[in-house]
Amino acid sequence: MAQLNVALIGYAFMGRAHSNAYRQVSPFFSPRLRPCLKVLCGRTRDKVESAAREYGWEEASTDWEAVVRRKDIDIVDVATPGDMHAPIAIAAARAGKVVFCEKPLANSVADAKRMLAAVTKAGVIHMICHNYRRAPAVMLAKKLIDDGALGDIRHYRGTYLQDWIVDPAFPLGWRLDKAKAGSGALGDIASHSIDLARFLVGEITEVSAGLETFIKRRPLPENPKRSGAVTVDDAVMALVRFDQGAIGTIEATRMAPGRKNYNRFEINGSKGSLAFDLERMNELEVYLASDPPSIRGFRRVIVTESGHPFVKAWWPPGHIIGYEHTFTHTVYDLLEAIADNRVPEPNFNDGVKNQQVMHAMEKAAASRRWVKV
Ligand SMILES: NC(=O)c1ccc[n+]([C@@H]2O[C@H](COP(=O)([O-])OP(=O)(O)OC[C@H]3O[C@@H](n4cnc5c(N)ncnc54)[C@H](O)[C@@H]3O)[C@@H](O)[C@H]2O)c1
Repeated sequence: MAQLNVALIGYAFMGRAHSNAYRQVSPFFSPRLRPCLKVLCGRTRDKVESAAREYGWEEASTDWEAVVRRKDIDIVDVATPGDMHAPIAIAAARAGKVVFCEKPLANSVADAKRMLAAVTKAGVIHMICHNYRRAPAVMLAKKLIDDGALGDIRHYRGTYLQDWIVDPAFPLGWRLDKAKAGSGALGDIASHSIDLARFLVGEITEVSAGLETFIKRRPLPENPKRSGAVTVDDAVMALVRFDQGAIGTIEATRMAPGRKNYNRFEINGSKGSLAFDLERMNELEVYLASDPPSIRGFRRVIVTESGHPFVKAWWPPGHIIGYEHTFTHTVYDLLEAIADNRVPEPNFNDGVKNQQVMHAMEKAAASRRWVKV
């Protein structure tokens, strides 16, 4: 069985999630090309060595530049904060590697475009990790929309709410630093809502938006007695228009007490509606106007039948799956695309378009005007 050697840069949250996906994908999906967990990279030797042992990587390294040039590496997976996406992805592309990169693609449109240019010039396969596309219920939503079950789409309502920085004592980590993260709730979580909007409805052509930073200073992680400025948004709200005529709202915050990972969308068309909530990710709410009037109403479809996307590889109907499975599905589709020698979706083109929408939202918020994407 042909094997692809993976180098993963970053070993914390996403590093663990991606490591798990590479371990699970072969036993459950039997891809034509199997990933080998070759090298895990980080900055601190003892920590990366310990993570490599725990997650099942053959080697650990603190030198990503040397690793991405290694002849025996086939896939470079970028799971670092946003400021390192462009340098690592561009070096990997120049070395002829497949590049799999976390979202948002970069910290600016200019960097995202440089990354797209690098993979295009090198002719390498590229993908961005908008893993929520591959929740089976989201794939089912896509199929229902593409099959015309909802008719003409008129509304997209995307809401991504978390609460982990409500406490003003929460320290000034990299996600609150513009130089590292590019933006706050916008790039961290609204980027997923934007991707789902583009995936399910169409291109966003125009936006109006507001950004807010409620807590302007926070304690420094290394010295809580001192504080530093928060340089990103805590929350974003936007109105959007789509190329095919729909209108929508996108709201994201990390300041909604009680909401943990409330990634929800509702879509209304001329013939029906759909609603999805990641916290109940095995379910899709479906309303079809064509149902007999006496029983017409939202139904809760449990998306765990063997005919539903990706489900057959896992468990019998009703034996639900979770967050981590979305990464396994994403990695499976990447491996199959490599076997077919094609670029999968979403890829760096999607990453650039997503970044352009975010940039338009920032411009709209600053100018308090509608901005074309
Ligand atoms: N797809 C998703 O749902 C999802 C979820 C969370 C995060 N993310 C994205 O994944 C990326 C990483 O986020 P995270 O939550 O894993 O962050 P994290 O802080 O948990 O981990 C970041 C990792 O990057 C490493 N790192 C930082 N700078 C580095 C450098 N210069 N060289 C080598 N390694 C370096 C750190 O050591 C750490 O292992 C971000 O782009 C984030 O937006 C995506």
